[in-house]
This record gives sequence, C-alpha cells and structure tokens, in this order.
Amino acid sequence: MGTSFEKAPFYAQISLKGTLLCLKGNKDHAARRKYFSKAFTQNNLLEWEGTLKKGVRRAILGMKEKGREEGKEVDVLKAVTEMSLKIMVELCFGEMGEEGGEKIPKANDGPTRAAIIDGVHSEVIFTENGSKRKVLYLLRSLPLPLFITRWIFQPSVKESVQQLKQNYLTKPDDFKNTILARAIGKNEEDTGLPDGILVKEAKAFIVAGTDTTANAATYLFWVVLKHPEVKAKLQEEVDSLPEDFSISQVQALPYLQLVITETLRIFQPERWENPTPEMKDSYMPFGIGARVCIGQQLAQMELALSAAMLFREFHNVRIAPSMTEQDMIVEDHFAMSPKGHNFMVVL
Ligand code: HEM
Repeated sequence: MGTSFEKAPFYAQISLKGTLLCLKGNKDHAARRKYFSKAFTQNNLLEWEGTLKKGVRRAILGMKEKGREEGKEVDVLKAVTEMSLKIMVELCFGEMGEEGGEKIPKANDGPTRAAIIDGVHSEVIFTENGSKRKVLYLLRSLPLPLFITRWIFQPSVKESVQQLKQNYLTKPDDFKNTILARAIGKNEEDTGLPDGILVKEAKAFIVAGTDTTANAATYLFWVVLKHPEVKAKLQEEVDSLPEDFSISQVQALPYLQLVITETLRIFQPERWENPTPEMKDSYMPFGIGARVCIGQQLAQMELALSAAMLFREFHNVRIAPSMTEQDMIVEDHFAMSPKGHNFMVVL
C-alpha cells in the first residue's frame, strides 16, 4: 500500500525480521529496496530465462518419472513447490544444479532446506493466532526435529553467501544477474550489505518466492482442469508456440495472460479481455504501492512458463479420482495453500 501503511507487527517477530520483506520503517525499507530493485528490471528478468526453463523442465522430468505407471497419481503441488524452491535458490546464488532432479549438488540442497526450515519457523509464528494444523503437517513432513534441522542446514546458507561473494568478485559477469549480487560490497566505498543481512535476505527471498508462486501454479492447474472449455482454448494456444519458444513469446500469449490474471482472483478468464479501470484498480494480488511485491514479474514469468510447458507436455492430464473439492479449499496462512496439502493428477 502507500507509504503511510506500515507492515503488521508480526513481521517484526518472525525469524526473517530485518529483511526487505519485513522491515517496518519506510526509510529503512526504501534504502534496502534500492539494493535489490535492479535485479528485477525487465532486462535482468530476461537473463533468468534459462534458469526458469531449466527449472520447469526439471519438474516435468520428475513428474514423468513419478507418473510412469499407467493411472499413477502425481502431486502437482509437490512438483511445482520443488520447482519454485530450486529456481529461487539458483536466482539467489547462481546456477549450480543439473537437470534431472536428483543430481542437484549438496551446495544447492543446503540453502533449499534451510529456507524451508525458516519457512516452517515463520509458519509457527504466523499460525499462533490461527489454525495449528498446517504447522503440524509441516513439522511432520520434516525428517528430523526442527532444532536439529536448523542447526544442520543453517550454516549452508552462510557458506552459499560466502561462495557467491567469492564467485562474484572473481567472475563478476557470470554472477552479476543474481538477486544478491548488487548488495555485495565491491570496494571500500561500496561496502554493500553485511554478511549477516545477506544471509537473511537470501532466506527471505527463497521463502517469499516459493510457496506463493507454487500455490498459484497449483491453483492455475486445478481451475483450468476443472473447466474443459478453458483447457481446450489454452491448450490450442500453448501448442501454437514454436518448438524452441522464448519467454517473451509465452508472455505474449493473450489467453494465457487472462488465465494467470484470473487465477489470482476467482475464475472466469474472459472477464479480463476488456477490463474497466475500476477492475484494474481493485486487482492487487501482489499488493500495491511502496511495498508491492518485488517478485511480481518474476512470478508471472514463472507461472506463464510452467503453464505453457506443462500443458504442452501433458495433453491428457486430468484431476485424479482421489481429489475432492474440499482438498482444494484455500487455507490462508502466510501464503494461501490447498487444505489437502496436495493436488493429485493423472498424466
Ligand atoms: C504468485 C506469486 C506471488 C504473490 C501472489 C506475491 C504476493 C506478494 C504480496 C501481496 C506482497 C506485499 C505484502 C505487503 O503488502 O506487505 C509481496 C511482497 C514481496 N514479495 Fe511477493 N508474491 C509472489 C511471488 C514472489 C516472488 C517470486 C518473489 C521473489 C523475488 C517475491 C518476493 C517478495 C518480496 C521480497 C516482498 C517484499 C517487498 C517489499 O516489501 O519491498 N514474491 N508479495
């Protein structure tokens, strides 16, 4: 919202306090945002095309692997959450992974896990006033007790920041487009942000950019699959892309854009063919004003790419028989997510 609206007090209580996402004072926030806004300019976003495409391809490979058996159900929510998580880690620290799911090196895996854990930690606080169910679900899904996992993986984010600093200072051209690069000190005058803050910011970006985008992608899939006429129109459009399409071509697909816009609202994409000024003014899934989501264009690129690539790949995908409407009821925590904590499809 405008600068006279401050963040809610709980942002000052969570483990990510002091980051761009949580800073309360307008001046402090504006100063911090300057470090990161250049990473999110249109030109820099286009530099991330390869990382995004690779991330979606990894998710497709993983889904294919899981759905190999005829009629086997595949969890879209899980696949796109892993996808967004790895994409965010790579955008923060530079590409380290290889295609094919399992081959992600440990260096990449550490920050990913640390970010999940911080996400869980934040969830614990966020849900203190609300339902505890999601917290219990998340804690159950961790293989180890929370404090042990934090203790094991926390240092890996620090290591990744150190590694990035070294990489950036020795090979600036290869790492200058990472989210964190411009906040790294270059010389005595330009000292950048202290290491401790860089570590926190890395985690905050990963947390802010993962569940949000993954849940939006999951709901996009769900609503499209529930509306065969929408699916048919979208399928025709994404199939019309050339074999080696670019992100700009995907983002120029008019119907896909209507579907994305409407996924973040309710569901009738055609309403956005001729939006009124009032409709545009009241549409704010990414917030508005000084605190507007810094990752808005990135999320829209990721949503467009994943929808185009997944629908092109899986023509016969359908909602799994095990799914009920109840499973997809929105639970509103930090990010909105499906109540059933999964979205099963048959490929
Ligand atoms: C569909 C996906 C997404 C949605 C719906 C979403 C939504 C939002 C909203 C509503 C806010 C503003 C909160 C407020 O008013 O205080 C916000 C802030 C923010 N988002 Fe996103 N977001 C998404 C994806 C991302 C991605 C991919 C990133 C990764 C860069 C990201 C990073 C951030 C950050 C750092 C802030 C804080 C910005 C600031 O205060 O200056 N988000 N997001």
